[in-house]
Amino acid sequence: MSQAPIVFIMAAGLGTRMKSDTAKVLHKIAGRPVLHWIVLAAKQAGAGRVVAILGHQNETVKASLDAAFGPGAVDIAIQPEQRGTGHAVQCALPAVEKESDDRIVAILAGDAPLLQSERIAQLVEACAANKAGLSLLSTVPDRDMPYGRLVRDREGLLEKIVEDVDATPEQKKIKDANASFYAVRLGHLRKDLQTLRADNKKGELYLTDLVAHAYKRGGATAIDAPWEEVSGINDRVDLSAVEAAARRRVNEHWMRAGVTMIDPKSTYIDADVGPLGKDVWLAPGVCLRGKTQIGDHVRVDTGCVLTDVTVAAHTQLKPYSVLTESQVGERAQIGPFSHLRPASRIDDDAHIGNFVETKKTHVMQGAKANHLAYLGDASIGSKANIGAGTITCNYDGVSKHKTTIEEGAFIGSDSQLVAPVTVGRGAYVGSGTTVTKDVPRGALALTRVKQVNVEGWADRFREAQAKRKKAGEGGEH
Ligand code: UD1
Ligand code: MG
Repeated sequence: MSQAPIVFIMAAGLGTRMKSDTAKVLHKIAGRPVLHWIVLAAKQAGAGRVVAILGHQNETVKASLDAAFGPGAVDIAIQPEQRGTGHAVQCALPAVEKESDDRIVAILAGDAPLLQSERIAQLVEACAANKAGLSLLSTVPDRDMPYGRLVRDREGLLEKIVEDVDATPEQKKIKDANASFYAVRLGHLRKDLQTLRADNKKGELYLTDLVAHAYKRGGATAIDAPWEEVSGINDRVDLSAVEAAARRRVNEHWMRAGVTMIDPKSTYIDADVGPLGKDVWLAPGVCLRGKTQIGDHVRVDTGCVLTDVTVAAHTQLKPYSVLTESQVGERAQIGPFSHLRPASRIDDDAHIGNFVETKKTHVMQGAKANHLAYLGDASIGSKANIGAGTITCNYDGVSKHKTTIEEGAFIGSDSQLVAPVTVGRGAYVGSGTTVTKDVPRGALALTRVKQVNVEGWADRFREAQAKRKKAGEGGEH
């Protein structure tokens, strides 16, 4: 390829059939907005510049592109009124005013996120080799779709594209459909766009009319692309079909990279997740979301939901654990039923067990909180042991306070640690203690009242109860 192609993405359409408050191109496929998929493919194909043509909700769409790719990384052209795909591209021309006529522009539909970068490169190469300076993708839809049909002449040259609404019954029988991806020499684009007229059933300026112009120059090149790769999204049924195809693609990628999935159909991995290490094992119902990363030999059991989480090698996540914006070290054990809320950091060999909730808490190497605890705004030293029912009372109704439990400390069951408070290295907190003052290193903290055993009390109590009951039976009724 001589010069990096310019890429236009048509994304101004209303997406009326989505029946949504969100612009169609911002609906997510495997966790990533539809439009971002296409921008990524364009960048991977070596695009020199990417111009997104926006209309509907253009400010929100631009903000989302800036957040994902960096401010201004994607140029924006505004199509104030949606008067057809030809008009959309007209609106993008001022953005490439200074570019020379021999530059190649790839024009991509903004609502078909599964297009591969190799396919864009293929389109651009075909355009460069085509005398008429135009190439496009054709496809054969797997069901009846209102797509433009590719009309060829007797020699098989591409004569024109006829839109579904404008097609004769004979033309509707044509199998080859226009997928809405093109590559064209900028010089031809500039000239041909000026001649577009809205003399069709929809009253729109059709980009597809470029094909008839190219016919006069010797005919455009059509490249056949698989339907699954180029199928677009018009409503939520299409959205779910594309979602399924995207997830299949993502899962196959990771399985080929050495990840075991017991049931890929019920394993949900977002597109931006990764890397996933070798011999990672994923059970059914696992959801890996956001920018989650997982090291070698990690086991993630049924029903775990990880969002923006990093897990190091050899760690086990037992069933139904929910982890968000957190880090877990090597050989750790989490779950079943653990809840790691944002900014939890669990170091190597630590254990977090059932019904333990952590938030903004650092659990250091080998520390254990195996049952029923809330650890918030806390630092738990290495090898510390947190008994069942331990609660860090981090919130006083106004602000949050920190609990520090130093290395090797032992927190007895059913204890409350009223923050801010520190339990010194190796100290013991007796079961049922409410800690309100710092506990010195090596000390025992106790706030329980002394136990009293009253000999024979239970027997006497039962006897008295039985007598009362008998007397009652004789009297009332
Ligand atoms: C278009 C093609 C059709 C092709 C089909 C494949 C034309 C005239 N027809 O039809 O041959 O088979 O795609 O999906 O091009 N858009 C704008 N501004 C507009 C109109 C559309 O930016 O004024 C954008 C849309 O947001 C969308 C893309 O262009 O991303 C395609 O538009 P759409 O209205 O879906 O075109 P179709 O009628 O489906
Ligand atoms: Mg469409």
